[in-house]
Amino acid sequence: MKGPLCANIKTLTVRFRQSHLPHLTPILQRRHITTSLQTKSNLTAVPLMAPAMTTSTMETRILKVKVDASNIQVLGHWKDSENGTNNLDTWEVPTTSANQNEDILSPLREAAHHLRATDIPVAFPTETVYGLGADATRSAAVKGIYAAKGRPSDNPLIVHVCDLSMLRSFISSPSQSSETQENDPIPEIYHPLITRFWPGPLTILLPNPSPSRLAPEVTAGLPTFGCRMPASALARSLIKLANAPLAAPSANASTKPSPTAAQHVLDDLAGRIALILDGGSCSVGVESTVVDGLCSPPVVLRPGGVSLEEIRSVPGWEGVEKAYKDQAEVGSKTAPRAPGMKYKHYSPKARVVLYEAEGGREQVPGADVREAVEAVGEKEGRKGKTVAVIRTGRWPVAGGLRSQGLDGAAAAKDSEDVAEIGFVVREGKWLDEDDTTVLARLLEIDLGNDVKGVAHGLFAALRELDRRGADVIFVEGVSDGDDIAAAVMNRLRKAASDIRI
Ligand code: TXA
Ligand code: MG
Repeated sequence: MKGPLCANIKTLTVRFRQSHLPHLTPILQRRHITTSLQTKSNLTAVPLMAPAMTTSTMETRILKVKVDASNIQVLGHWKDSENGTNNLDTWEVPTTSANQNEDILSPLREAAHHLRATDIPVAFPTETVYGLGADATRSAAVKGIYAAKGRPSDNPLIVHVCDLSMLRSFISSPSQSSETQENDPIPEIYHPLITRFWPGPLTILLPNPSPSRLAPEVTAGLPTFGCRMPASALARSLIKLANAPLAAPSANASTKPSPTAAQHVLDDLAGRIALILDGGSCSVGVESTVVDGLCSPPVVLRPGGVSLEEIRSVPGWEGVEKAYKDQAEVGSKTAPRAPGMKYKHYSPKARVVLYEAEGGREQVPGADVREAVEAVGEKEGRKGKTVAVIRTGRWPVAGGLRSQGLDGAAAAKDSEDVAEIGFVVREGKWLDEDDTTVLARLLEIDLGNDVKGVAHGLFAALRELDRRGADVIFVEGVSDGDDIAAAVMNRLRKAASDIRI
């Protein structure tokens, strides 16, 4: 087919040999034309959708990457420095011809090809959350992220690199040699931090060179950009194969909890992206810590997978300060936050009521639950209301509410996916004082008292309770010392409609 496609044509059906499809699809997608297939003998009918219809009509495929702890090394390896130590300089991925494990790597090669050939982002797992990646050097590709997420392009994006040579290659001025320490374009302050925490859940702010190879949409007009090298070998190999740094926000629809499993991405972005790489559930479960070492003293802009105490233990970072709101600022003892008076973020559909650990509550107050349930409007076509409780260590079963049916048998029928995410959902009934009258359906999740486990399961728990129809979720907060607990509470406070002491 030659010549421009008429702008008024919304759907056009063309027939061609099926074997030509892999070559044709990237060309069509570059022009924001989506395809849907109907196979008839060896000919394929393809209705071509005009750009206005692109986002809701695309077929979204999940490509499973068959790796686990036992075979993760097939994804790639570090090229050792001369003295045999890993200097994070070069991450290598086996070439096609020499490789016995093409079945494992082929989804990555397909996704990398898609990233190079189209402007539609690819969702991929990292150790923190799933990201929605696009070539950070191409404006059209980065714009594709904003289109898929449905968010305005006023937020800077994190640039993900596979190794230090990739990072140096786009921040060095042409006269600099990336080999010599004196000319290292990575500011000195970050060297010990990189040695200690990369690859891993830490994002550093770097000066954006001028002129820059990064698309302007990545930095949202700021003179700096955020960068991280993920601990996930799958993510690094994808970046390496794409042969470009990937700009990637979390792969959720705007305002929703971040995705920690491929299914979460599908729930939010089906029809809006073409590919999701499935590498299982994310080990950390909350996003990276964002630090700025370009100011004095250096600051933590967002708490995340690396804790403040860990950062403080690194030379040059002893005096790092918090530049985010924590309990001292948001957990006012006098006034609970008014529902709806906040910018929604990380939020499930259900209303979230959060109890600060500082209040020392031993259980969810029954009066609060009654009040919240009464405030929930009757839903069309549904009888009764659903209350959910998320426990993190102190609260007893059902948060102390009188209950029936929250037994192990209900837990046993939960899917393998839920087992991988690390918790089970128990389902029963909330009973009145008489122990017989049913007040509401009751769901409960126990995330355990280990903060890392709470972080790992948090977003999945909020999503799972939404999926099961929770109207209100009561959450037992954790004490936000300097641990990853700060990240957990930071996300929960943003998700909550009510914060109570
Ligand atoms: O763990 C993560 O960081 C995940 C995975 C996918 O890597 N990504 C992620 O991206 O959380 P996003 O877009 O959801 O969050 C990016 C954060 C925002 O808080 C943004 O304000 C901050 O990084 N950020 C990025 N560039 C910045 C800059 N130049 N200055 C200040 N903040 C920046
Ligand atoms: Mg996000």
